[in-house]
Amino acid sequence: MFDRLPIALRTDYLEPNVTRKMVTSTADHLKLVDKQLRAGTCRGGKMTGWLEPALAMPDAEVAALAGFAKELAASSDVLVLAGIGGSYLGARAVIEALAEDADRVVYAGQNISAHYMTGLLEELKRPARKKGVAINVISKKGDTTETMIAFRLLSNRFGKSAGTKIIVTTDPESGVLRRMVEANVYKAAFEVPERIGGRYSVLSPVGLLPIAYAGIDIKKLVDGASDCAALCKNVDPLTNPAHFYAVARNVLDEQGFSIELLASFEPRLHCFAEWWKQLFGESHGKEHTGLFPASVDYTTDLHSLGQYVQEGRRILFETFVVVDGGEPSLRMKRLKGNPDRLNYLAGKEVSYINRIAYEATSEAHREGGVPSMTVLVKQLDAYSLGALIYFFELSCAISGLMLGVNPFDEPGVVAYKNRMFELLGKPGHKARSVDTSKVEYVSF
Ligand code: PA5
Repeated sequence: MFDRLPIALRTDYLEPNVTRKMVTSTADHLKLVDKQLRAGTCRGGKMTGWLEPALAMPDAEVAALAGFAKELAASSDVLVLAGIGGSYLGARAVIEALAEDADRVVYAGQNISAHYMTGLLEELKRPARKKGVAINVISKKGDTTETMIAFRLLSNRFGKSAGTKIIVTTDPESGVLRRMVEANVYKAAFEVPERIGGRYSVLSPVGLLPIAYAGIDIKKLVDGASDCAALCKNVDPLTNPAHFYAVARNVLDEQGFSIELLASFEPRLHCFAEWWKQLFGESHGKEHTGLFPASVDYTTDLHSLGQYVQEGRRILFETFVVVDGGEPSLRMKRLKGNPDRLNYLAGKEVSYINRIAYEATSEAHREGGVPSMTVLVKQLDAYSLGALIYFFELSCAISGLMLGVNPFDEPGVVAYKNRMFELLGKPGHKARSVDTSKVEYVSF
């Protein structure tokens, strides 16, 4: 099943909804879209810098970044990553999947909750912290409200404390953060590559610096993506799983399966699903089209949403992400007298039982009318995760272009921002207040 890469796509549970013939019948469209993507002539074609991970992040740059992160990790107790969306989710996805001590990186700017931020500021003052706090503020535009509020609060509290290190990752040219770097307010600065948008930026300094800080081998991560990129140049969907996946999800969409559930049986992949949701949701959800990307953590959610998936409206299909091996050995023991009636599992690995849970779930859901695909990952390590990231990025771009949308912009995001700026009185926006006269309640 794993040939040249540690990931493979299982497709038999797509049938009869999606057959191999249906997928191959899109070959001409697929080839055209792939060609336009690589030539940069597709919609949003200027934002394809992520297509070649090894060019976007050459070895020397990866090594320099890894060295910087190592020194930073040695000279600080904790890294606060201040960012939101594509400037946060990719790093968190990888760190939570792979880091031995994921708590060394904490997150700010991904919400505007006073409760969250107060708790974080308190937590960062813990007496055990001796070396100081490192803050990596990440924003391509350089002025994202959530990120900048968190950054101001963090700087106010820790900016002048001994040991605090501030690292800025932002656009090479524009934005408030770049101006602050130029004014020499902050010494260490990294660039968000111009031709890479937020949600495609995890394998640039945006994601790689915090990931390396957490002790993860970023060279392996980039290598996994590069090797996947090399194999994905093949445009035959029957031997290119990224293309197969891109086409199959569009075929299901056309049949009225309008929600894709990313389902994993591994809690370490929870944030990976959050990253995936942003990637597909922000890339495809425009011009009133696109599948709604949702995620579930199995088996936890089998005891809540599982009922709906099995017997609710037939608008869902599932994409399972299953870790095939490399899990720690934890064996069930035989208990004298079998008081808990679990002796039928004696001698079995917990990871095997989890695997059977996936087999049973996908089988039951399929019988209930929920088609599925499974992305099998040989084992959860930096190389495989790099390949998996690239697999989804490429399929997202391809399936979005086949849908006819620009998978690299996010025009709808400004709608809430502009209203918020008006209501908050941001200079340059027409100030107004919330019109409470028309607000209706049903009260007790
Ligand atoms: O994918 C995207 O472009 C967005 O999710 C952005 O990453 C997010 O809005 C944060 O933007 P910025 O990095 O400019 O602060």
